[in-house]
Amino acid sequence: MRFLKLLGCCALLASIMAAQTSTLPSWATDPQTETRIDSLLKQMTLDEKIGQLITYSQGAPTGPGTGRSNYKEMVEKGQLGSIFNLTTSDETNAMQKIAMEKSRLHIPLLFGLDIIHGFRTEFPVPLAMAATWDPAIVERAAHVAAKEASHSGVRWTYSPMVDISRDARWGRIVEGAGEDPYLGSAVAAAYIRGYQGTKLSDPESIAACTKHFVGYGAAEGGRDYNTAEISLRTLRQVYLPPFQATVQAGAASFMSAFEALNTIPASANSSTLTQVLRKEWNFQGFVTSDWNSIGELIPQGVAANHTVAAAKAFNAGVDMDMESNAYGPHLAELVKSGVVKESAVDESVRRVLRVKFGLGLFDRPYSDGKGANAIAPEDAELARKVAEESFVLLKNDGNTLPLSASGKTIALIGHLADDAQQMLGSWSAISKAGDVVTLRTALIKQAEGLRGHVIYSRGTEILTTSDKGFADAVAAAKKSDIVVLALGEDANLMTGEAGSRAHLELPGNQQQLLEAVAAAGKPVVLLVFSGRPLVLNWASQHVAAIMEVWFPGVQAGPAIADVLLGASAPSGRLTTSFPRAVGQQPLYYNHFNTGRPTRDTDLTHPPKSFAEKFMSRYVDEQNSPLYPFGYGLTYSTVSYSPTSVSSASLSAKSVNAGTEKLTVSAELKNTGGRAVDEVVQLYIRQVNTSVVRPVRELKGFQRVALAPGASQKVEFTIGRDELKFWGLDMKDQVEPAALTVWIAPDSASGKPASVAISE
Ligand code: NOJ
Repeated sequence: MRFLKLLGCCALLASIMAAQTSTLPSWATDPQTETRIDSLLKQMTLDEKIGQLITYSQGAPTGPGTGRSNYKEMVEKGQLGSIFNLTTSDETNAMQKIAMEKSRLHIPLLFGLDIIHGFRTEFPVPLAMAATWDPAIVERAAHVAAKEASHSGVRWTYSPMVDISRDARWGRIVEGAGEDPYLGSAVAAAYIRGYQGTKLSDPESIAACTKHFVGYGAAEGGRDYNTAEISLRTLRQVYLPPFQATVQAGAASFMSAFEALNTIPASANSSTLTQVLRKEWNFQGFVTSDWNSIGELIPQGVAANHTVAAAKAFNAGVDMDMESNAYGPHLAELVKSGVVKESAVDESVRRVLRVKFGLGLFDRPYSDGKGANAIAPEDAELARKVAEESFVLLKNDGNTLPLSASGKTIALIGHLADDAQQMLGSWSAISKAGDVVTLRTALIKQAEGLRGHVIYSRGTEILTTSDKGFADAVAAAKKSDIVVLALGEDANLMTGEAGSRAHLELPGNQQQLLEAVAAAGKPVVLLVFSGRPLVLNWASQHVAAIMEVWFPGVQAGPAIADVLLGASAPSGRLTTSFPRAVGQQPLYYNHFNTGRPTRDTDLTHPPKSFAEKFMSRYVDEQNSPLYPFGYGLTYSTVSYSPTSVSSASLSAKSVNAGTEKLTVSAELKNTGGRAVDEVVQLYIRQVNTSVVRPVRELKGFQRVALAPGASQKVEFTIGRDELKFWGLDMKDQVEPAALTVWIAPDSASGKPASVAISE
């Protein structure tokens, strides 16, 4: 209750008014749908209503199972409204036939699946997709996934995952867009548009499920499922915005998270699930729990048994129970005892049916049987383009890249150059290793086309202590003109759910392999395959070039070879800070200043003087990241003019009223010799404010294509949305402040301009 009040009642009023006037998606406003739901609700027994509020998995467990498998019988009796993890048309259609022909009210089933970065056509992992800084291409990729899934009868995806994460130890950082709420919101909305199309009822649209609501990415110590403590202001400012962006984009469903947020489990948290999501944001879709997250209220310590857990989750605002087996056996008794109101059950059923109607399932319950038996050439082409845009060039001494292959021998070393399965990343739906073109295959083909020669050596495995492959790798390096090393993480063990790591170096003995190969004295290009930022200190000092390639999906090989050989230039930018040491975690660019800020360049390790010691610093490491948020090189150089502003002053009152805006611009020039895409970023900082504000915050970005020698003026508009924040009184508005703005290539550089914001 106290927490609820603290969320800010004045702000609440303003937001409710805003929400009510904002446009609702068409699936939420069709009067005919509501009438049909009214009529169904009148006919449904309580048992049938509860059936709509349950989802069970057919196989593929990611948590404790319910032990139930009598799904056919439950569907026939109207006791189960949705099933997940069925993936083929035959499976979904057979189950749907039972619902449509044998159940009393013929309510279609909804089939769900974790389609996280592709269904059959596997795209790069979501963290990589975000590194494109290209929401339009993310939308296209999500649409391909929707198209393929819908032809198999899967019309509900548990995506996008929009959890902000500032901690690279957390395995699930790979499933989101990284550490920034502005970029995270843009990417989150793009997924919704891609999955749900222009109309949810389009046969190739699927319902999105925004997850995990909320705060899951702030798991303490980066350990999965762990507790999160987030101040209410930071919750509002950092963690909630991407979720809200998906509501505004029309998301049909939400998933409640596992963790206890500020001591209240996210799946029993009425402040977030009802107050924020329903009342403030006016969300009209339904909320499912995460896998057994209602059952987990018991070990978390807020429920003595499944009956109490069901009551707490339902009354907090979780409409559907995924795999906890709490609503099925216990909701009816809770209605009878008055703990849960039947009218509330009706409302939850309405939300589920609304999405089923919205998807057109009542009219077209079956999939067309086409399935997703192969990858269409245009989808493979898109997968390759997304991958190319996602690679982040971290270092490129002496223009080592692109490689000139002609007449040269390239030693390609590393397990990950030749492991198709790993390229699919975690959560790979129905994708097949057989669809993947590995780097080994692609590089040999492309380099030989350019009259180059590739020799391959495996070197080592991802996780082994044996160095028996080292000698061969070193020999290959010695015979070559240049070495490409493909090293990194195990996608399934170390990234994604339950993939937290306490160490962030290259796993196994890959660092030793890297050092042994580098000692051969040939220029080394390190390709890092990972689902998170890794600690790359040694490599940053000893190898010629480093490119982060994540887990790039089915077109991994061709995309990497294209960039290595210069057919395309890298244009991805980091969306997470790359640390120098695991001890820096959590590490994020949009932090607050302390009262004793430091400049890394001024510090020695260990500190030499009293003045140096008593600072907010590590005595044995710098504060700054090795590679900052927004950073990434390309094959040309782009210069930025100083940032200029349309006015040196603004009035907070006018900006709040929407009558005053600021135009910020800079002149860019491609000063190198080839065409590139530049990701231009707009940052702000506000000081003299009622509460501390981040040292920098992203408030805009544009991908700009620049021909060699070309100049272009880039402009951004800053208004209320960019300048408002949750101040001391928990009002989300613009305050008088001293404002600094930067148009910059990353979060750690740029030439600023100043603006005074008066009353
Ligand atoms: C648990 C995961 O946390 C969630 O992201 C996923 O969607 C569900 N399992 C269903 O597989």
